[in-house]
Amino acid sequence: MDADALAHSAALSALIRSEIGAGSIGFERFMELALYAPGLGYYSAGARKFGAVGDFVTAPELGPAFARVLAHAFAPLLHALAEPTILELGGGSGALAAELLRALHAQGLKNVRYLLLDRSADLRARQAERLAPFDVQFVDAPPAAFDGIVLGNEIIDALPVSCFRIDSGDVVERAVGVDGDALCWRERPAPEALREAVRRIEHSIERSLPHGYRSEVLLSLPAFIRTIAAPLRHGAVVLIDYGYGRAEYYRPERNQGTLICHHRHRAHDDPFFLPGLNDISAFVDFTALAEALHAAGLELTAYDTQSGFLLHQDLPAIFAELSQLDDRHRLALTGALKRLMLPGEMGERFKVMIAARPETRGLERLALSGQRHLL
Ligand SMILES: C[S@@+](CC[C@H](N)C(=O)[O-])C[C@H]1O[C@@H](n2cnc3c(N)ncnc32)[C@H](O)[C@@H]1O
Repeated sequence: MDADALAHSAALSALIRSEIGAGSIGFERFMELALYAPGLGYYSAGARKFGAVGDFVTAPELGPAFARVLAHAFAPLLHALAEPTILELGGGSGALAAELLRALHAQGLKNVRYLLLDRSADLRARQAERLAPFDVQFVDAPPAAFDGIVLGNEIIDALPVSCFRIDSGDVVERAVGVDGDALCWRERPAPEALREAVRRIEHSIERSLPHGYRSEVLLSLPAFIRTIAAPLRHGAVVLIDYGYGRAEYYRPERNQGTLICHHRHRAHDDPFFLPGLNDISAFVDFTALAEALHAAGLELTAYDTQSGFLLHQDLPAIFAELSQLDDRHRLALTGALKRLMLPGEMGERFKVMIAARPETRGLERLALSGQRHLL
């Protein structure tokens, strides 16, 4: 680890400790600062995050395969609109936007307006550099009204969650305190919103969570979905992420929650290890996501594993040129498809959820029931 990186982490840690003072802060506030504190948070500061030289690999970083399948799936809907827009949330390195625009152009969709909304100024600068050859607009908020697609790959898992533990039937908040120079877990009575959210989960899964059970909940999800869905007049919201339906998410055996941190391709569960140099995320409760999309006036059209979604598309047509590629390119493409689809890789853990504004046309490739019974 180089000295600059360690100094950066120490500066962020000091900032967080000064906010905590002698008390404690909720985990969602800690996660907010650790990931997004201006100039210091993991997503707001300079280091390379995505791909082989970063901390983790996301589907768009595996090459053009993922974007090409999405372009094929989106094409009928985009063709049906007079002025189609794609609003991508959390663009990462810009890889998905670049490949998606290339694939859409190849399908004759040259009139798509592409908007990128990312809260990280540092990533936005990198995206602008990579996407210079394309006509992409960088925005701070969704436009007032538009028709098309809201797209997010691994964005919901990056939203700050609240942590709790069940103590003899009561809900205790797992907050963050200071021990000497180190950040540590500090339990405190749960605020009413967290207590109520846990009670709603128990009501929904029709059982109480056992004593000692730890997990997390994304309290800001309904407001986030409302904000991104409200301006959509015709079209769909497409969110891809790792997670489960609620009964599976909060099953008794998953009693340590789903928080997961990444540093240099190693996954671990200590969110206080070198703040600012680690990604921190939580699995997505897809039942909560479906409820939030429904509350925003959208109708669920698809919920399936990533492999189920990809297999629903016409892969031989999308990759028709496979047999004409040279060995190196064919191996790269088939390797990427395998990683996207195999159960031990991204195929089963990742899910695709799609919800559309009623009366949207061109949804045939975006409608599949797959795993809806698990919501
Ligand atoms: C795990 S990365 C995924 C990046 C990219 N979609 C990919 O698949 O490679 C999460 C991204 O979401 C962005 N982000 C997090 N919260 C956001 C928010 N509220 N609005 C917009 N972007 C956000 C981060 O800055 C980062 O670019």
